[in-house]
Amino acid sequence: MYEEIKQAADFLASKMAVSPKIGMITGTGLGTLTDSMEVGFRLAYNEIPNFPQSTIEGHKGTMAVGKLAGEPVIALEGRFHIYEGYTPAEITFPVRVMAELGIKHLLISSASGGLNPNFETGDLMVVTDHINLTGTNPLIGPNLDSFGPRFPDMSAVYDPDSVRLARNEALKLGILLRQGVYVGITGPSLETPAETRFLRMIGADAVGMSTVSEAIVGVHCGLKIIAIVVITNMNLPDCMEPTSLEKVIATAHKSGSELTTLWKRIIEKGLT
Ligand code: HPA
Repeated sequence: MYEEIKQAADFLASKMAVSPKIGMITGTGLGTLTDSMEVGFRLAYNEIPNFPQSTIEGHKGTMAVGKLAGEPVIALEGRFHIYEGYTPAEITFPVRVMAELGIKHLLISSASGGLNPNFETGDLMVVTDHINLTGTNPLIGPNLDSFGPRFPDMSAVYDPDSVRLARNEALKLGILLRQGVYVGITGPSLETPAETRFLRMIGADAVGMSTVSEAIVGVHCGLKIIAIVVITNMNLPDCMEPTSLEKVIATAHKSGSELTTLWKRIIEKGLT
């Protein structure tokens, strides 16, 4: 595994003039984030050694390297999910590659279903903590000692300073930013009403099919993590409405510009 990571990282490093300190992952319908990037170069995942391939609608499957808000960034346009058939270690391979390239901050965006009844479709939520309910873990297998310890501490996965910065800047921008706990499931089926009630009862505010594996590997690599998710649909057990991928993508698109504004401001203010 480490050799494969190193090979991909060396290939990318040979194309980069500077090494970005910020890595970003965009989610379903959120690929427009990189429209406001000054792109130095962009590669399809199949051009990068050992990268998995993105298989689903709403995800581009490219890596863009350049500047956002004046700062060098690496942006993954499209991610991998457990439900595509990849192992948790495979879906987080790109996070390892970015860590090997020297990023310090991992900025995660994704689409999610709202469980907190105070939320509304289209809201943004900064993740303060997560519950890994995927039934697996990306760190299963031999430990990659050069990245981190066998038993990484998970007491503060989402960097409290970054969360505070996001909340303060959202307030100044007049953007409503919710905060809460994200529960990660594998999907691809959505939740039944009974499952939705269970997820709310165990303390989650939003549910989605990504983010947690990436965050676990980010922690293992010693990255400072910040995740902001779009509530693309509301999941309320007593009045469940059918959800479709089309709806999720449409809402993510709509809230995408607010999320881009917020990410740019967070980057401009300087992540520490
Ligand atoms: N459930 C799980 N994942 C999701 C949802 C949802 O309702 N919406 C977007 N991703």
